[in-house]
Amino acid sequence: MFLYNLFRLSAVLIILVTIKLSLTQEDVGTETTDAPSTTICSLCACADGVVNCANLNITSLFEIPDWDALKDFNPITANLSLNPITAVTRISKLPIQVLNLSYCEISSLEDGSFLYLEDLMVLDLSNNKISTAAINRKVFVGPLTGGGPEDFKRMQSLNLANNDLHTLPQDIFMFMPTLTSLDLSGNPLAYIDQVTMGSISDLKNLRELRLSGCDLETLPDGLLRRQRKLRHLDLSNNRFTTIPLVLREAPNLVYLNLDRIPMQTLEANTALSNLTKLQELSMSRLSRLQNISAGALAGLSDLTILRLNYNPRLTNLNPDFMVWKNEDDEEMWPNIKELYLNNNNLSGIDSGLLDSWKDLVTGDFSTNPFNCDCNNQWMVDVLVPVLSGMPTNATINSMVCKKPSDLRGLTFAQLYNTSKILVCPESESISDLPMVSNMAIILGIMIGIVVTFPIVLVLVLLWRKGYFSKMRGTKYHSDDENEDL
Ligand SMILES: *[C@@H]1O[C@H](CO)[C@@H](O)[C@H](O)[C@H]1NC(C)=O
Ligand SMILES: *[C@@H]1O[C@H](CO)[C@@H](O)[C@H](O)[C@H]1NC(C)=O
Ligand SMILES: *[C@@H]1O[C@H](CO)[C@@H](O)[C@H](O)[C@H]1NC(C)=O
Ligand SMILES: *[C@@H]1O[C@H](CO)[C@@H](O)[C@H](O)[C@H]1NC(C)=O
Ligand SMILES: *[C@@H]1O[C@H](CO)[C@@H](O)[C@H](O)[C@H]1NC(C)=O
Ligand SMILES: *[C@@H]1O[C@H](CO)[C@@H](O)[C@H](O)[C@H]1NC(C)=O
Ligand SMILES: *[C@@H]1O[C@H](CO)[C@@H](O)[C@H](O)[C@H]1NC(C)=O
Ligand SMILES: *[C@@H]1O[C@H](CO)[C@@H](O)[C@H](O)[C@H]1NC(C)=O
Repeated sequence: MFLYNLFRLSAVLIILVTIKLSLTQEDVGTETTDAPSTTICSLCACADGVVNCANLNITSLFEIPDWDALKDFNPITANLSLNPITAVTRISKLPIQVLNLSYCEISSLEDGSFLYLEDLMVLDLSNNKISTAAINRKVFVGPLTGGGPEDFKRMQSLNLANNDLHTLPQDIFMFMPTLTSLDLSGNPLAYIDQVTMGSISDLKNLRELRLSGCDLETLPDGLLRRQRKLRHLDLSNNRFTTIPLVLREAPNLVYLNLDRIPMQTLEANTALSNLTKLQELSMSRLSRLQNISAGALAGLSDLTILRLNYNPRLTNLNPDFMVWKNEDDEEMWPNIKELYLNNNNLSGIDSGLLDSWKDLVTGDFSTNPFNCDCNNQWMVDVLVPVLSGMPTNATINSMVCKKPSDLRGLTFAQLYNTSKILVCPESESISDLPMVSNMAIILGIMIGIVVTFPIVLVLVLLWRKGYFSKMRGTKYHSDDENEDL
């Protein structure tokens, strides 16, 4: 009874507390939804701390008085994306945390444009026309408090993707030491010089770096040496023909993207083997990749997601490409959960690729020119049931035989359905031939013996009767005749 009362009391208390909480939330809500009748809010949608001015054909950024009028609204997010704004001017002291200036036509930024935004956490300047000349360290100068500029204390993410940066100016990120995410993708860097490298390697808290589509052929030694926290790296769509050696400096990487690089062959003993904490690796759309050697991904013991797809020339995938040996000389595999080998030029999937196919959660092996011979019987018997049990089993219908001609066009699911026994290719049945031909030879010899024995016997008999001496006689005669001539 006492327990029951206690239970009821606490239930009532919980209900009271939740009502109180929802009330306070509503209070907060009504306070911030008030759209003030300011210039900015008459133009943009102002609600719940968000000023949404996206895609409104705004050609110039607001003036200081316009921004000042927003103070009571307490904007947390300001979205000015998708407007033909060419110049960024200084913004008033406001509690803005997320400032989106992407997809504008920005080519110039006033010095200290953001210096009053002490709470700034996310700054999106991607998809503009910002050149190296347009930014210097004064543009990104930190909040002025008392003596001089200080750091943006909460800064986390800076997006400068898809601009016109050839290099980064010196100390450009000087006031953003807490930056965890930097996106420089789609800038024509081509080559990372010492100053650019210095600016990047100063960011010791970086967890995510994107350098996709920067026309890079190499990465300089030391670029990642100080980035002990770097976990996420995107190097896709560059001009690397080998695995960049600099990856040795990033042993804490969890995610690596090497899509769309012109590499022809992935060998063993590259810097990839140093990435022992890597969980996800993507190598898709490598238009030239042909071969992957044994041990190419050796040592990646934490790897769970592997994308090796849309590599139209990938023909030779060594079955041991993920295998290595530990100190006790035991073979080791990563515990792959997601494996994508679709849209390559593979004639089969080797059953030894994974240690245990049961642990696979998602897989795609479709759209390869599969050879439906006995080497791939296991794909019918084992792989098809594994794949069809997955939630993402639709791709199984695109696992189709290319060879031999009598099975061309049939799916592996159909082969499984009819419990098809795949025959071995002709080149292998040749190995059966010697036995057959041995038999033939023995048979031939026996026939030979049976047939030649009587002939020899007859010849011997004839010789005994002096037939050949007569022949010889005639022959000598003819020889004599020749001599006579
Ligand atoms: C944007 O505004 C300019 C003038 O400021 C006008 O010429 C143009 O047609 C407008 N574009 C759209 C899509 O409304
Ligand atoms: C800005 O607006 C665009 C378009 O409405 C939207 O896609 C985007 O998520 C918004 N971004 C922010 C930070 O609010
Ligand atoms: C900024 O807006 C663009 C397009 O409106 C959107 O794609 C992007 O995600 C937004 N950025 C942030 C950080 O929300
Ligand atoms: C890939 O391997 C094949 C067969 O081993 C070889 O002929 C070819 O030259 C290799 N390709 C490259 C790019 O190394
Ligand atoms: C990278 O791996 C190689 C070979 O496994 C090893 O010799 C080297 O010391 C490693 N480098 C770093 C920086 O860990
Ligand atoms: C695909 O592999 C076959 C051999 O299995 C080869 O003859 C063909 O050239 C390869 N195709 C491409 C695009 O590399
Ligand atoms: C895919 O999975 C669903 C249920 O999850 C099952 O009904 C269906 O038969 C499967 N498809 C194939 C091709 O195995
Ligand atoms: C397999 O057979 C079942 C019934 O026997 C049929 O419903 C299913 O469509 C078949 N699947 C394929 C891929 O042929």
